[in-house]
Amino acid sequence: MSVAKDPKAQANQSLQTGIRKGLTRYGDTEFSLFLRKAFIKAMGYSDSALERPIIGITNTYSDFNPCHGNVPQMIEAIKRGVMQAGGMPMVFPTISIHESFAFPTSMYLRNLMALDTEEMMRSQPVDAVVLVGGCDKTIPAQLMAAASLDIPVLSIPTGPMLTTLHQGDRLGACTDCRRYWGKFRAGEIDQEEIDEVNGKLAPTTGTCMVMGTASTIACMVETAGLSLPGTAAAPAVMAERFRLSELTGRRAVELAKTADQKTFSPRAILTPKALTNALTVLHAIGGSTNALIHITAVAARLGIKIDLDMVDQLGRNVPVLVDLKPSGAHYMEHLYEDGGLMAVLRELKPHLYLDCLTVSGKTLGEEIEDAKVSKARKVIRISSDPIYPVGGLAILRGNLAPRGAVIKHSAASPDLLKHRGRAVVFSSLEDLALRIDSPDLDVNADDILVLQNAGPKGAPGMPEAGYLPIPKKLAQAGVKDMVRISDARMSGTAFGTIVLHITPESAENGPLAFVRNGDMIVLDVSQRLLQLEVDDAEIRKRIDALASPAERLAIPESGYRRLYQTTVTQADIGCDFDFMVPSMTGTAPVLKGR
Ligand code: FES
Repeated sequence: MSVAKDPKAQANQSLQTGIRKGLTRYGDTEFSLFLRKAFIKAMGYSDSALERPIIGITNTYSDFNPCHGNVPQMIEAIKRGVMQAGGMPMVFPTISIHESFAFPTSMYLRNLMALDTEEMMRSQPVDAVVLVGGCDKTIPAQLMAAASLDIPVLSIPTGPMLTTLHQGDRLGACTDCRRYWGKFRAGEIDQEEIDEVNGKLAPTTGTCMVMGTASTIACMVETAGLSLPGTAAAPAVMAERFRLSELTGRRAVELAKTADQKTFSPRAILTPKALTNALTVLHAIGGSTNALIHITAVAARLGIKIDLDMVDQLGRNVPVLVDLKPSGAHYMEHLYEDGGLMAVLRELKPHLYLDCLTVSGKTLGEEIEDAKVSKARKVIRISSDPIYPVGGLAILRGNLAPRGAVIKHSAASPDLLKHRGRAVVFSSLEDLALRIDSPDLDVNADDILVLQNAGPKGAPGMPEAGYLPIPKKLAQAGVKDMVRISDARMSGTAFGTIVLHITPESAENGPLAFVRNGDMIVLDVSQRLLQLEVDDAEIRKRIDALASPAERLAIPESGYRRLYQTTVTQADIGCDFDFMVPSMTGTAPVLKGR
């Protein structure tokens, strides 16, 4: 029996999809379509090509971004997949951010990339989008955009670099960048050797091949179900990466053709349970502290607040199972050889919500069952033999961090996790650069290095400056680690006893602002405590003496910096622009089994 279709409803429907979607406003709909087709035909497209579902593919390639050096080849593979499935691929550029080519810091540009990506997806006629990103801030920016827009997307990372050897020592960006730079500062290796190492740390295109921010985010996105299984770990230059790209293109067309596009929208996939799974994996892989800020920002755009105490509680039950630097010893290519992220998730099954839907169309539990796992494993441990007994991150509180601070204790020195020391304070990044190596600096190995005004507003952009260098005279005396605290971030590839993201930041007159040289500070990770041992009367006196945040920040009259410094939120909310965050109406992520 055939059912008569309503022509008006059909016309309305077709205006929501493909080439007819989001027509430019000239006041004449038919003319808008006529004009759009006339122009796009200049590219040689036929009418039949233009009738297909349109799959947008973000192009984050840039000569400044070696982490995205394989993007042209990935795009070719994604386009191939889109066309195999009957779609029309349309590649469009967005901002590309590379960690070491972003002044003052890449985080300063993340929200700009999110705005750019969101509005390009909104304004161009796309039925689904493949988000190609990789370097630290790029996938978070894309996910923030996708969360705000809520059309079907698949994320695919560019994948990690391969490693190489230096005199028999395996090297990778950028844990070993810091390790070798530390040796150089301590006088253990000479200029010639550090120059040689410089040429080996990034031997292929791709993202940093340790469990830095890029790898962490890729693992969390795969766990949360917004990318296809296998995409987090396959190295950037391996054939598998391009086969996965092709598959992603094919799947994007299937999502675009799904009767109800909301079925696989980011809002449908990134549920509180899926976010909790991602946070569980963050702990279990010894992942980057930065990822906590990024996932908080993505969740906030969905109206979901990530509670730091819940994140801490989650970590008390989940061991670190992946033996990758900086918490362990190996690299992403070894995780790939062990079966990739799905092999980790198999070990984590009791801690995961397995019924979460993924963009593949299967649940996470089904994907885990389908995954091929290596029998000879090198880096993935079983729960009874973890590389660290609890999760990688801990949330600290105390009078120095009323809204929280974070430490990656899996990559810290065990003997410093409980420590009381004298504060040696640097008031800014400039002050740090000026004095840290001074022979006159009054500092001992037991002191606590304190960096102020390096937070979201203060720096601005919350640079990865929390990994304060060990003062040269101490480094040369053999000191490898000290307690360091700040409102800054730290590269996910870094290691040490480093307290980060102190909130509120010092530029907002948070308590960090009134620490003075010689104050005693207590760090006790087992008690989750970061405490300044100064009495309340003295603290009040210091607060009264502080200038107002507005006076201290010297915000310019105009420009992006003004937008940034007047609207960026604190780390516990995700450092997004405040006008991009809806009120938190969603259910907070939930703890498995509670
Ligand atoms: Fe791009 Fe590390 S610098 S991922």
